[in-house]
Amino acid sequence: MTELNKIALKIISKGKGILASDESNGTMTKRLEAVKKISTPETRLAFREILFTSEMMRECIGGVILYDETINQIASSGQKIPELITGIGSIPGIKVDTGAKVLSNSHEETITEGLDGLRERLKKYYELGARFTKWRGVYKISNKYPSQLAIHSNAHALARYAALAQECAMVPIVEPEVLMDGEHNADVCLQKTSDVIKKCFDELIIHKVDLTGIILKPNMILSGNDSNYKISKEEVSAKTLECLKNSVPKEVPGIAFLSGGQSDIEATENLNIINKNNNTNFIMTYSYGRALQQAALRTWSKDMKNIKETQNTFNHRAKMCSLAAEGKWFRNLENN
Ligand code: 13P
Repeated sequence: MTELNKIALKIISKGKGILASDESNGTMTKRLEAVKKISTPETRLAFREILFTSEMMRECIGGVILYDETINQIASSGQKIPELITGIGSIPGIKVDTGAKVLSNSHEETITEGLDGLRERLKKYYELGARFTKWRGVYKISNKYPSQLAIHSNAHALARYAALAQECAMVPIVEPEVLMDGEHNADVCLQKTSDVIKKCFDELIIHKVDLTGIILKPNMILSGNDSNYKISKEEVSAKTLECLKNSVPKEVPGIAFLSGGQSDIEATENLNIINKNNNTNFIMTYSYGRALQQAALRTWSKDMKNIKETQNTFNHRAKMCSLAAEGKWFRNLENN
């Protein structure tokens, strides 16, 4: 077992998943302003520190993805943030892409940037304590999209990033996110997501990435937000498993889904059924941003001093996701 494989397994095994608290300052500002809070380095840290010091972190969160600002911040205890996370038995990770930019010759699509100077940045993040990394490619669905150009160029960038992360002894989270926006049905999502993931693995293999030392972070297979054809949770699970079984090489240790705009309970319930029906060898868990944090952010926004209540809200969501990662979640647990 390689060191990278050990790290990957430590992050996602035994009902643990990932807390994606790596919103860029722009995205975090939108989230804070949506609950009428001012976004400053201090308020961003205050909210995140409340989550990182919650009781359920130790039991449910195997890895925390940080943003550049946060990995350099100091907690109120005086600890550096990566030390705080390591201290509770979790692993600090870092988002290393610099965002999705307009794709030349297909202006309605994006290419994720951040490769220039990446090796040097990775070394710096390793010294700060990061042991895994994240890069997100973004794809939209419509009649003409994602284009071959977007599929190809984002897969290539993801593979170059993953190879560099492994060279620097960190596990790359490979995140090709096919967005939920649109009127498409779930079969279109299945087809396009499969095309995207297969291309990513073609490139990862060409770039000689050790597949036992990555974590795939995909979307679940859902119908578009504006689709007239909604599908049941059982169908979400069946189509998601079909997609992953057919497009992910079996060396990959695990899959950690993004929540992608699903409600927190929806993201939990879907993960639970996927795990109940999991007929693959992959660990299937969560790497949620909104579905883990949104409820806690609402509680906090009502009274920023009420740390206990905010942590209770987060603890509950983390516990529900953790149960779902083992197929042991029940809806009636949500009322507690
Ligand atoms: P969501 O779970 O809110 O989709 O965020 C996950 C993530 O890390 C997106 O890159």
